[in-house]
Amino acid sequence: METLPEEHAILRIMARPNDVNVAGDIFGGWLMSQCDIAGGIIASRKAGGRVVTVAVKDFQFLAPVLVSDIVSIYAHDVQIGTTSVTIGIEVFSERRQAGQEQIIKVATALIVYVHIDDHRQPTPISAS
Ligand SMILES: CC(C)(COP(=O)(O)OP(=O)(O)OC[C@H]1O[C@@H](n2cnc3c(N)ncnc32)[C@H](O)[C@@H]1OP(=O)(O)O)[C@@H](O)C(=O)NCCC(=O)NCCS
Repeated sequence: METLPEEHAILRIMARPNDVNVAGDIFGGWLMSQCDIAGGIIASRKAGGRVVTVAVKDFQFLAPVLVSDIVSIYAHDVQIGTTSVTIGIEVFSERRQAGQEQIIKVATALIVYVHIDDHRQPTPISAS
């Protein structure tokens, strides 16, 4: 059985009924948005300032997220460039079904953020 990573999750959120798609599962865009928020927190810490999302290099939906799952998002830097930082994301759902607690890895992603200055221009990460 899958277990949660030992590190702290950057975000933990409950998937709610207003986040479902027409099939009744959680909308992929909702999960992408939560991952972008979590990745942005780590990227901003690494850059020491404001960052913007420039690219989603990879996003894999491994299993559906269901209403009332507790979604935990883990994020860490995998590459730091001159002005950019690439964040690796892992997402797990905690689900209670038929009295059993299940942990399911539901998504992975690689998201690139750029450190920007007050004029919204890329600025070196080491300068902050
Ligand atoms: C992010 C932004 C400031 C970058 O400006 P730019 O002039 O393209 O910057 P550069 O070409 O100098 O690239 C800056 C860094 O981003 C990286 N980068 C740019 N486009 C990339 C892409 N598609 N994939 C991966 N990395 C990319 C570059 O490799 C560079 O990294 P490095 O300095 O570590 O080597 C600009 O594209 C922008 O403002 N985009 C909109 C961001 C935004 O609003 N996001 C939220 C959307 S709702």
